[in-house]
Amino acid sequence: MTEKNEDKRPNGFLMLRTMSMPKDANPNGFIFGGWLMSQIDTAAAMMAFELCQGMVATVAVKEITFNHPVTIGDVVCCYCRCTHIGNTSVTIHLELWARKNSDERINRQLITETDLTYVAIAKDGSKRPLPESLIKDKEIIEKIGYLPNID
Ligand SMILES: CC(C)(COP(=O)(O)OP(=O)(O)OC[C@H]1O[C@@H](n2cnc3c(N)ncnc32)[C@H](O)[C@@H]1OP(=O)(O)O)[C@@H](O)C(=O)NCCC(=O)NCCS
Repeated sequence: MTEKNEDKRPNGFLMLRTMSMPKDANPNGFIFGGWLMSQIDTAAAMMAFELCQGMVATVAVKEITFNHPVTIGDVVCCYCRCTHIGNTSVTIHLELWARKNSDERINRQLITETDLTYVAIAKDGSKRPLPESLIKDKEIIEKIGYLPNID
């Protein structure tokens, strides 16, 4: 897909930033899609974990379309925002951007975006209700995407 995104800027909170390495490449020399999917789940899970104040399990991931290849040395950035707070689950919208440092001018491309749903779980793996404080702030969090809960 040759979507133009020069005017588009990342939307959301930067939850993960890492450099793709030769070990993350597939036999074609580009970055392996499975590695990118792992970064996506890791970034969104960190936000879900914080919001749910404890363990979460990935229950669903929407379709993922890769618009451009990611190359070795690109800086992969995952921007997240919480879009839905349910009774036991939260949904996170994620944008994965790659910063192309190989050119003289640093530029970036939107590689993919998707939605991931996490269920808050107890120690035995069963679902648990979301914390009351999260439900209380549901409206504002769904509007702005996040309220960091870090001391
Ligand atoms: C997560 C799990 C505990 C949920 O238990 P469950 O009894 O099946 O839960 P439910 O069907 O009632 O769904 C729980 C919540 O998830 C949501 N949900 C379930 N399937 C969904 C889907 N396909 N898309 C979006 N949301 C979904 C439900 O709407 C519900 O949300 P709400 O309570 O906020 O309204 C259970 O399905 C499980 O253990 N799955 C495996 C998880 C896993 O191993 N993930 C990979 C590694 S982390």
